[in-house]
Amino acid sequence: MKFSPLTIGLKDGRSVLLRHVEVADAPKVMEFVHGFVYDEEYVPLTEGEFNPTLAEEEQVLANYINRSNALFLVAEFDGKLVGNINVDGNQRKILRHTAVFGMGMHKEWQGCGLGTAILNAAIDWAKNNSELEILFLQVYADNKAGLALYRKMGFVEHGRIPDFFKQNGRYHDEISMHLSVR
Ligand SMILES: CC(C)(COP(=O)(O)OP(=O)(O)OC[C@H]1O[C@@H](n2cnc3c(N)ncnc32)[C@H](O)[C@@H]1OP(=O)(O)O)[C@@H](O)C(=O)NCCC(=O)NCCS
Repeated sequence: MKFSPLTIGLKDGRSVLLRHVEVADAPKVMEFVHGFVYDEEYVPLTEGEFNPTLAEEEQVLANYINRSNALFLVAEFDGKLVGNINVDGNQRKILRHTAVFGMGMHKEWQGCGLGTAILNAAIDWAKNNSELEILFLQVYADNKAGLALYRKMGFVEHGRIPDFFKQNGRYHDEISMHLSVR
């Protein structure tokens, strides 16, 4: 099994199941993304841009399942997805030891320790993965919760691109960070 499911107890007393995504989760993943990303200031996706067919989404999830240096964890509560992390291991030979990741949770699940738990689980997995050596990410420079989380987990800043995100008539700088998982 790629990832053994975990039950995570949150700061507010709720518990969620953290498990690897399955192809059959495609409708749930699509519902999760539609119910989450468009309200988020710090996710670079606008209404209507996430429109895969069910078959396309199934293929995306199958790719995460089948690639040895990739991971897609979902946090589930009451049968619904409330958070996720996707670790996208590079497929080029020279870059196979690197993976970029993205993560997010529904508004009502933010700030209660879920991000910490999900990222911890993904880092542990990456440390035990025989190929991966570097995790990296891009984050909005004004995403305080994201930056706090990544710094807390040991990620180090290695760059900043001014005005990288252009959103609703406003620019935001981008910060790049990485963590060694050798
Ligand atoms: C960023 C995000 C993933 C963090 O996950 P989370 O579950 O909210 O984070 P946690 O509750 O585990 O908190 C992690 C740390 O962030 C900080 N933090 C949490 N909420 C914060 C807030 N509103 N403002 C500032 N710092 C905050 C704290 O330092 C906290 O650590 P602590 O609890 O040990 O003090 C989540 O808020 C989210 O999904 N945001 C929207 C999408 C997004 O920004 N994704 C990241 C794109 S790079």
